[in-house]
Formats: sequence, C-alpha cells, structure tokens
Amino acid sequence: MTTQLPMTAPELAPSTTGSGQMLPAVAYLDPDVLAWEYEHVFAGGWICLGRASTFANPGDRRAYQVGTEGILVVRGTDGVLRGFYNSCRHRGHELLPVDGEGTGKLIRCPYHAWVYTPEGDLRGVPPTHEGDITDLSQHALVPVALELWNGLVMVNMSGDAPPLSEYLVGLDELLRPFGIGDLKVVDSHSYTIETNWKLIVENYHECFHCPTIHPELTVVSDTEAGVSVFGEGLFFGGTNDFRPGVATMSIDGSSGGVEISGLPDKFKQGILYLQVGTNLLVSCHPDYVMIHRLVPLTPDRTFVECFWLFPQQAFDLPGFDPSYAVDFWDITNRQDWTACESVQRGVASRGYRPGPLSSYHEVGVRLFTQWLAQAYSTGVAPTRVADMITAEQRASLAFPIDR
Ligand code: FES
Ligand SMILES: [Fe+2]
Repeated sequence: MTTQLPMTAPELAPSTTGSGQMLPAVAYLDPDVLAWEYEHVFAGGWICLGRASTFANPGDRRAYQVGTEGILVVRGTDGVLRGFYNSCRHRGHELLPVDGEGTGKLIRCPYHAWVYTPEGDLRGVPPTHEGDITDLSQHALVPVALELWNGLVMVNMSGDAPPLSEYLVGLDELLRPFGIGDLKVVDSHSYTIETNWKLIVENYHECFHCPTIHPELTVVSDTEAGVSVFGEGLFFGGTNDFRPGVATMSIDGSSGGVEISGLPDKFKQGILYLQVGTNLLVSCHPDYVMIHRLVPLTPDRTFVECFWLFPQQAFDLPGFDPSYAVDFWDITNRQDWTACESVQRGVASRGYRPGPLSSYHEVGVRLFTQWLAQAYSTGVAPTRVADMITAEQRASLAFPIDR
C-alpha cells in the first residue's frame, strides 16, 4: 500500500485482481476514504459538473463544489465556456457561493470587491487598493481544465488527467449513432440518497437484482440476456435485451417518441448502459438517452441528477409526452435508491463481510471494484480499462459491439 487508507492489501486483493468481491466496509463508511476519493478519483480524473446549456449567454456563471474543491464555470464574452477555481486572488473568498448562479459582464468578489472579467482577468480593485497592485495581469483567476462532452461540462480539477479524448478513448466511436450531442433535455430529477456513491454505481452495473426489486422493468427487459462492454478508455458497462415485441423501456414497452435516426440494429434490441469516467452513468435506449450524474456528499449521502434526452423529431410529434420514459425510470430509480440505502445500512453492520460477486451477472461490479481497489492500492486511479484488466478477463470480455 502506498497510501494511508484503512484497508490492507489482503483485504483488497480479491477486488484488485477482478476475482470478484465487495470492497471492505470502510470503503463505504469512512470519511477518510471519501476524502481520498475526492482527491485521487474525482479531482484526479474527469468529472461531469452539469450541462453546458445552463450557460446560455455570455457572462452566465455557476459555482460547483466537489469535496473540498470549488469550481466556477463561466461563459466568456467570446462564447467560450471556462472553468476557474472558485477562489478570489485577493484573500480567497468564493466568487459565487456553492451552487450559486449569476450573470453579467463582470464578476465582483463579494468580500472586498475585486472585479474580474468572464475570461478570468482581473479588471480592477477598489481605488484605495490600486496602489498595492502594480500588474493586474498577475492576479487572474486560476483556470481549471474544462472540456465539453456531448453538451456536458467536464472538468479535471487536478490538471493531471490526460485530455478527455484520451481518457474516454473509444467512447465517441461507440456512442456516435446516438448523436447524444444533438439530443435535447426534456426533464431532470434530483435525488439525495442516503448511501455511498459506490453502492449506486455497483447497483447500476448489474441487473441481477431486477427480477426481485423491479417488477415493472422485468416485464419489458430480459434481465438474463445481455453482454458486457468495456472500453480502451475509462468506460464500461453492458447491454440488456428487450423482451420480444418491446420497443423501449417503458411500462408497456412501447415508445411515445421517435427512434433515433440511423441507429444500427444492434442498438434497437435493448439498452446500452455505461459508466463514463468517474461520475456519469449513461443509458442509451433506441429512442432516448438517460444520464445519471453523481456527486458524493458524505460517505453515506449522494446527490444524483437524472436527466432524459430526446431527438428533435420526438419534440416535433403532436402532443409529445416523454412521461412514458421519465415516469418509468423514476419508479425504477426509487426502487434502486431504496435498495442502495438498505445496503448502506447492511454494510455498516458488524455482521457485514464482503461477499463474492457473480461471474455472470456482476461483471461490471467486478470491474468497478477492481478499478477502485487498484486505485486504493497504488494511489492512482487507472484511466484505461484496457490496461486495468487481466489477459484472462480481456479474453472473456471480448468487446461485443462489432469492434
Ligand atoms: S477576497 Fe475577494 S476581494 Fe478580497
Ligand atoms: Fe435497478
């Protein structure tokens, strides 16, 4: 172990090698582990802060908090979206409060009124203070690496991660038929769940639980049928086939929208679900895409934003009503959150022992716990799934989507 984490190498070994075991209890309970994850997993990788459409006009801005780090995202007068650390160059006051929003040509620090441009340059300070500063250009806001992915704002807070195209290499090629960047958000739900963020991801990676907790979903999805998918870069998940005659995930299996045009047959027969980077869960249906964005708040509390994106052709339908998808997944989400909160309490029990994972149903859970166990063990979260897995795993996980 190269870290001070409260987990021993023998405890992590079954997860590190992908042989399949839940993580030790402290991984889900200990504030020190979450602090470590904030630094090494979230700040060290690319995370999604939200949607670029939040920033419609030049000067629009918003502050985000991820662990101990605050980020200010601003659309410049040149139309470019930029990220800065939310820390004034005078004495560090936040330029916007956490989750605060603003707009306008200048950003004024609420403490002593230093003023910045939306491009992050220091424009001026109060007159009584001007003599103290010889060169305004030495006090610009400190930039954060920011890139857009299909209309989503992605940041790398440490500045140490590879470029996003490298971090997610292979993903755009896989998802190109869905044209996610051209889809429009129709609805968004926010949930605060009393569980560790990892339990939500683990739950997402398997449908082993579907027949027992998702009666509605099990009507339309053949929970036994699907394949595992993993990327060269940091994305992995799988597919779940629809039952015969089902067009999409909805209560009755019918679609109230329009199939995404040009979609290959292989994507019409089920759902493709992927963990993308650290905090995005992307679920592609033939007629819509659902995205979950996770933000860990405490070891046993996680914020989740879930939003649904549809093609323009659906909006053009007379009386288009996306509730067939939104309501179906809201029911399913809540069933999942109830289960995850139960697991959180169970993991906190003295009787918790990390159990073995299914080699058939829980392949994605194995990959996820493997990724984290390797991060905990080496101090670095792997950025390439292809490098993280063993040759044996690679052979058994042959990429199934015609690659
Ligand atoms: S801390 Fe911002 S102006 Fe003083
Ligand atoms: Fe579920």
